[in-house]
Amino acid sequence: MDAIVIRAATPDDEAILSDLLSASYARLKGYDPRGLANALPLMSTANPKLLASGTYYVAEFAARAAGCGGWTREKPGTGETSDGVGHIRHFATHPDFLRRGVAKRLLRHCIDEARQRGVHVLMSQSTLPAESFYASAGFRRLNAIDVEMAPGIVLPAIEMRLDLS
Ligand SMILES: CC(C)(COP(=O)(O)OP(=O)(O)OC[C@H]1O[C@@H](n2cnc3c(N)ncnc32)[C@H](O)[C@@H]1OP(=O)(O)O)[C@@H](O)C(=O)NCCC(=O)NCCS
Repeated sequence: MDAIVIRAATPDDEAILSDLLSASYARLKGYDPRGLANALPLMSTANPKLLASGTYYVAEFAARAAGCGGWTREKPGTGETSDGVGHIRHFATHPDFLRRGVAKRLLRHCIDEARQRGVHVLMSQSTLPAESFYASAGFRRLNAIDVEMAPGIVLPAIEMRLDLS
C-alpha cells in the first residue's frame, strides 16, 4: 500500500487542485440539483488565498494529488478572527481515493498544527454528506446553516465544532 504524503499547497497547485475539487464536489449528494449547479463553479475552484496561506495542504497518494484541505484563523466568508478559534477549509478527496483515510490524515495534520499554534476550538462548515466524516473525528453538530457563496447563491451546510484539549 502506498503511503499518504502531506505537503503544503502552493499557488502552483491551483490547476491540479481545482481539478480535484471539481471531481469531488460534482458528486455531492443530498442537495437540490439546481441549487448545487449554481454553487459548484464557486466551490470547485481552488482558493488562491488558501493556496498561499501555508496552512492548506495536499495529500499525495501513489504520486497523485488525492486530497486537499486546510485550516485558517479567518472565518470563511467574513474573514473575522477570534482568539483561540480556527476554521477547517475546503476539504476534498478525489473520487478515485475515497475511504482510504486520505481526508482523515489531512484533518489530523490540521488539528495537530492548529493545537500547537494555540487554537482551542476548530469549526467546520460541513457539506451535508461530510457530517459523518467530521463526526468520526470528534466534531459535534451545532446547527444547520446556509453558507452564502455569492450574492443569491446559498449552500445548506452543517456547522460543527471540535474542542481541542
Ligand atoms: C468528506 C470527504 C472529504 C471524506 O474523504 P475520505 O478521504 O474518503 O475520508 P476518510 O477515508 O479519511 O474517512 C475517515 C472516516 O470518516 C468517515 N467517513 C468518510 N466518508 C464517509 C461517508 N461517505 N459516509 C460515512 N462516513 C464517512 C468514516 O468514519 C471514515 O472511516 P472508515 O472509512 O474507517 O469508516 C470526501 O467524501 C469528499 O471529498 N466529499 C465531497 C466533498 C466534501 O463534502 N468535502 C467536505 C467539505 S466541508
